[in-house]
Amino acid sequence: MQITITGSAGSFATYLIKELEPAYDLVLFDRVRPDGNRLAGENRHSIVVGDLTCFEDCQRAVAGSHAIMHIGAIPFAAELPWARAAMESGRMPLLPLDETMRVNTMGTYYLLEAARRAAVATVVMASSGAVLGLGARPSGTHFTPAYLPVDEAHPLAPEDTYALSKVFGEEMLAAFSRGYGLRGYALRLAGILRPGLTPEFVREHAAPTGWNNWLYNYIDARDAARAFRMCLDAAERLPAFDVFFVTAPDSFLIETTRELLARLRPDLVGMAAGLGVHQALISPDKAERSFGFRAEHRWTELLAEAPAR
Ligand SMILES: NC(=O)c1ccc[n+]([C@@H]2O[C@H](COP(=O)([O-])OP(=O)(O)OC[C@H]3O[C@@H](n4cnc5c(N)ncnc54)[C@H](O)[C@@H]3O)[C@@H](O)[C@H]2O)c1
Repeated sequence: MQITITGSAGSFATYLIKELEPAYDLVLFDRVRPDGNRLAGENRHSIVVGDLTCFEDCQRAVAGSHAIMHIGAIPFAAELPWARAAMESGRMPLLPLDETMRVNTMGTYYLLEAARRAAVATVVMASSGAVLGLGARPSGTHFTPAYLPVDEAHPLAPEDTYALSKVFGEEMLAAFSRGYGLRGYALRLAGILRPGLTPEFVREHAAPTGWNNWLYNYIDARDAARAFRMCLDAAERLPAFDVFFVTAPDSFLIETTRELLARLRPDLVGMAAGLGVHQALISPDKAERSFGFRAEHRWTELLAEAPAR
């Protein structure tokens, strides 16, 4: 069975390709060609170099596929001041101001339109916890959950174009599912951690001195890849469209969840009464209930695997 992976030259794709290649024929679709020194297995997959915002490229990439793993995207809001500053100083490639909105929304639209014309059965899409209004907040305010732990019924309040484009992506998937019978699943990934965490990174994130809108949730890249496969494998048993948070059940913190809240967000302590000692503030339970996914890797393992300095 053939699966198209969009964004297949990106950093998470390495893990997704590894997870899927034992069982599926893969079509790797990206606007850049995967570099030669990644997975040896890529040599046996089909490569489509093209752009998500070009309908004909999307048609070439999905022809003959049973399913699509849609992870191609601009994974941040290109209009934000930190991004503009990084681009202007040459630390990041210069992107047009509207790049995130254009690629993530129009690219998803062209892909879904190509998918339904090619009778693709299922699309599993990378969404993000950002849909809640986490991450960059142009308002300068902190995200305040309505309740804890946050679950899939929680209201969405995106502020930047990245978060907004992921909400639009979820809505498009739902519309194509309703309108054309496509099976569509949006996996709202927590921040993806990969083996090799440096002590500096861990110091900054696991022992924070300030509140972080990402709520200290995380997911190991290998677990996230497994969630995509398990969701696809369960598609026939799931509702035609659904969204799931994909996050580890524990926080990315040294101190306990309640200590963190008491120190940095005392206003949230009252709603955290039922939380476990190191429980994450976003619940992973729906993915477990629905298709049996539970994260197996913890951030502490990733630290242990970090290279000696
Ligand atoms: N990395 C994280 O912590 C995280 C967290 C939540 C969600 N996500 C989502 O997971 C997915 C993968 O993230 P990643 O960290 O691997 O990002 P990445 O930037 O490493 O990979 C994205 C890939 O998409 C490709 N792409 C971008 N625009 C394209 C276009 N117009 N046409 C074709 N290909 C295009 C890029 O070339 C790149 O290879 C994204 O959808 C991202 O929003 C990531």
